[in-house]
Amino acid sequence: MKKILSDNILQSIRSGLVVLDHNGVVVYANNPAVKILGLDDELLIGRSWGELFPHIGEDSDFKKVVVDVIAEERLNAHHEVSYFSPERQRRQLSVTTSFLREQKAVTGIIVQFDDITEISELRHRERLINEERQRLSLEMVNSMKKLSLSVAHVILNPVASIGGFVNLMMRRIDKENPIRQYLETIAECAGRLENVSKSFKEYTDIQAVNFETIHLSTLIEGIRPKIESTADRLQKKIRCNIDIEDHITALIDPALFTMALDEILMNSIESIEDGPGEVDIIVYKAACGVIVEIKDTGFGIDNRHIPYAFDPFFTTKTSNNGMGLFKVKKIITEHLGSITIGRREVVGTKVIIHLPSDTLTL
Ligand SMILES: Nc1ncnc2c1ncn2[C@@H]1O[C@H](COP(=O)(O)OP(=O)(O)OP(=O)(O)O)[C@@H](O)[C@H]1O
Ligand SMILES: [Mg+2]
Repeated sequence: MKKILSDNILQSIRSGLVVLDHNGVVVYANNPAVKILGLDDELLIGRSWGELFPHIGEDSDFKKVVVDVIAEERLNAHHEVSYFSPERQRRQLSVTTSFLREQKAVTGIIVQFDDITEISELRHRERLINEERQRLSLEMVNSMKKLSLSVAHVILNPVASIGGFVNLMMRRIDKENPIRQYLETIAECAGRLENVSKSFKEYTDIQAVNFETIHLSTLIEGIRPKIESTADRLQKKIRCNIDIEDHITALIDPALFTMALDEILMNSIESIEDGPGEVDIIVYKAACGVIVEIKDTGFGIDNRHIPYAFDPFFTTKTSNNGMGLFKVKKIITEHLGSITIGRREVVGTKVIIHLPSDTLTL
C-alpha cells in the first residue's frame, strides 16, 4: 500500500524525478522525467548516468550536476542547465540534486528537474527588449543633445539682441506712444524665447556621468535641508520622510543624481499648494537593482499627462519651461536606469527610479 501510494505521488508530480543508486545507475524515473528527457524508461532504468549522457562540451552541464553531487557531496545543489534531447532539441532545465539516505547512510542520488525552456526564452526576450529600449533611449538623448546645442546657438544670441534693442527703444519713446505696447509684446516674447534656449543649454550642459560608489542614505539625507529651506522660502508646510534600507550603496554620479532628485522634489514641493503636505523618499533593494521612490501628497498628475511628462517643454504650469523631467530622464538613462510615474490614485504623485543591478555594489 505504502509503495503504491508513494509511486502514485511520484508519478503525479509535474517535475521529472530520477533516482540513481550509489554506483550512479538509474533505478527509478517517473513519467515526467521520461517525457522531459525524451528517453524511454526502458532505456533509462539500469543504465549508468555516464553511459546515458556521455557527451562532453555543450551537453555536459546536465551530466555534470550529478558528478558535482558525488564529487563535492553537495546537498540540495540547484542548477539551471541546458539539456539536448536525443533529437538534438535544446531544453533549459532547472535541476535540484540531493542524496537519498537510509538510516543516515547515503544509498543514492535524487535528481529532480523541471523544463523551464519557455520561461527562460521569455526572460531572454524580455532582456533583449529592455536592452533595445535602453539603446533607443540613449540614442534619443544623444540626438536631443545635438539638436539642443544647435537650437541654443542659433536662437540664444539673436533673441538676446532683439530683447536688448527693444528695451533700448522702449526707454526712448513716450509712455503714451501707441507703439510702446507692441514693443512690450516683442520684449515679452523675446524673454520667453530666451528662457527656452537657456533651458536647452542647461540640458546640453549636463556632463557625462562620472560614476562613484555612493551611500544613498548619506546622499539623500544631504538633500533634506534643501527641501526644507525651499519649502520655507515658498511658505509651504512640508514634512520630508526618508526611509532607506540599511547600507545601500550604488554606482552613480552624485552631482547628476542629486540634480535629478532636486528636479523631482521641486515638482513635489510645487504640487503641494497650501499644505501641510508630505514628501516621502523610500529606497530599497529589488531583485534587479535599487528602487528609489519619491511620493508626495500634492495635487497629483493627471493620468492622461503621464505619457508626456518627460517630453521637452511639457508643462501644466504658467511660468515654468517644462524641462525638469526631461533633464531627469536624460540623467537616469545615462545611469542605465529607468524612471516612471505611477498612475494617480487617491492623492499625490509617485515617481519611481530603477537603477539596474550592475550599478549596485554591496
Ligand atoms: N510631483 C508632481 N505632481 C504633480 N504634477 C507633476 C509632478 N511632477 C511633474 N508633474 C507634471 O509634469 C509636468 C512636467 O514636469 P517638469 O518638471 O518636466 O516641468 P515643470 O515643472 O512644469 O517645469 P520646470 O521643471 O522646467 O520648471 C509638470 O508641469 C506637471 O504637470
Ligand atoms: Mg519641474
